[in-house]
Amino acid sequence: MRIPLTALLAAALPLTVASSAAPARSAPTPAAPALDSVIPAPVQVRPHGPAFRLTARTVIEAPHSARAVADRLAEALRTTTGYRLPVVGHAPARTPAITLETGARLGAEAYELSAGRSGVTIRSGDNAGLFNGVQTLRQLVPLRAPFVVAGGEITDRPRFAYRGAMLDLARHFHTPAEVKRYIDEISQFKVNHLHLHLSDDQGWRIQIDSWPRLTTVGGAPGTGVDGESGGYLTKAGYRDLVRYAAARHVTIVPEIDLPGHVNAAQVAYPELTCDGVAPPPRTDTEVGYSSLCIGKEVTYRFVEDVIRELAAMTPGPLIHIGGDEAHATTEADYVAFQQRVLPLVAKYGKKAYGWNEITQAPASHTAVAQNWSDKTSNPALAAAVAAGTKVVMSPSNLTYLDMKYDPSTRLGLTWAGYIEVRKAYDWDPGTHVTGVPESAVLGIEAPLWSETLRNLDDIEFMAFPRLAALAELGWSPARDWESFRARLGAYGPRWTARGVDFYPSPQIDWAG
Ligand code: ACM
Repeated sequence: MRIPLTALLAAALPLTVASSAAPARSAPTPAAPALDSVIPAPVQVRPHGPAFRLTARTVIEAPHSARAVADRLAEALRTTTGYRLPVVGHAPARTPAITLETGARLGAEAYELSAGRSGVTIRSGDNAGLFNGVQTLRQLVPLRAPFVVAGGEITDRPRFAYRGAMLDLARHFHTPAEVKRYIDEISQFKVNHLHLHLSDDQGWRIQIDSWPRLTTVGGAPGTGVDGESGGYLTKAGYRDLVRYAAARHVTIVPEIDLPGHVNAAQVAYPELTCDGVAPPPRTDTEVGYSSLCIGKEVTYRFVEDVIRELAAMTPGPLIHIGGDEAHATTEADYVAFQQRVLPLVAKYGKKAYGWNEITQAPASHTAVAQNWSDKTSNPALAAAVAAGTKVVMSPSNLTYLDMKYDPSTRLGLTWAGYIEVRKAYDWDPGTHVTGVPESAVLGIEAPLWSETLRNLDDIEFMAFPRLAALAELGWSPARDWESFRARLGAYGPRWTARGVDFYPSPQIDWAG
């Protein structure tokens, strides 16, 4: 129940007056967030000893090599506390400090955090681990003074190396500024990959120099669902996004969807159809009607040019080549296409990543398959795994952030079912599909398709809080709904403070 502000003020006023004259009963100090209140839940938490109090005297101490991580931390804590929090190489003696230390013998992305009276120390073997520790610390600093961090230690490391989110820029284009805000938010939950779905039937959203009409036509105003979108990433804009993401330890994974979902490319280049006739532009949400012409050589010149240019502007190891819903391609043609195209990704120094349909082609055995099927038994996927394919888990009925929460959700679709927060949380990516053991699971990814999503508020409303649930499945070794539910409820005011338009699920008791 909310207490009216006027009643709170009336109650507080006598205390305020009394405190100016003499020490009076002070308002109760809000407790520091407990060390085990963090999302995703850390591996091990040992609360003990005195707390650390962040004040205007606190400095952030970091070696030169970790300066960027320290600057991110300073930026975040200045917003919360209003303190100056200078970043220094060495803190003067007896100065309260948040210290970042590298060189610890911990695994990739792992960190240790200890908090006591004189300061907080985060140790790691790599800057990714320091960044993860910083995200933990951000959740341990209260939103309001006094800025007290509970005493004790946290030891933490990821369960899976790949923890991803996907954003569809094709159905509705989302600007670089919006994508950056999304990166800001997902990286706070230790999500370390952002997959960008850059082409589909309705639009093409990444500049390719050797095929310029892809974007001048496929990214023109009026492209996208309902013809109300338009726009594309220039190469400079894409590289800027890659850099921005890297500074937050997020790897960008670009996707060009092939051999289906190509209507926009065929509108721009009619030679990519079998009859050479341009199809009409599409602004509806049908799927499965378009296909590249598998028997034409120009198809492979096109695909190789796109992969080469994408690989050249993508420092990350993965290039996603789509492969889903190729219902207008025969099965034999589909396999023939993938047998030629999957090796092209390796030719340009990258690892191929594709929707789980790619496992029909033997060349997928060195690739990563993104399992979007809602089935817990998938013999084709299990056979590919036995032959070496690695898997990212994205079952549509559990991880698709564009599915409605319930029948009253204004945005989103329903074809994979409703996904309330508990449903997104209560499953195990390591045992979900028969024949896909945890050792074959690279991680988990939460796709957000944009047929109904026009702006950042729409993205936030569908992604949060479910993305936090999925991030915990990717990071934490165990899951506990009641614990997660309590931590999520306590997290709500942090989204509110940052202006994030999250869905206030009735399954959660929201604080604030
Ligand atoms: C998909 O949802 N078509 C991968």
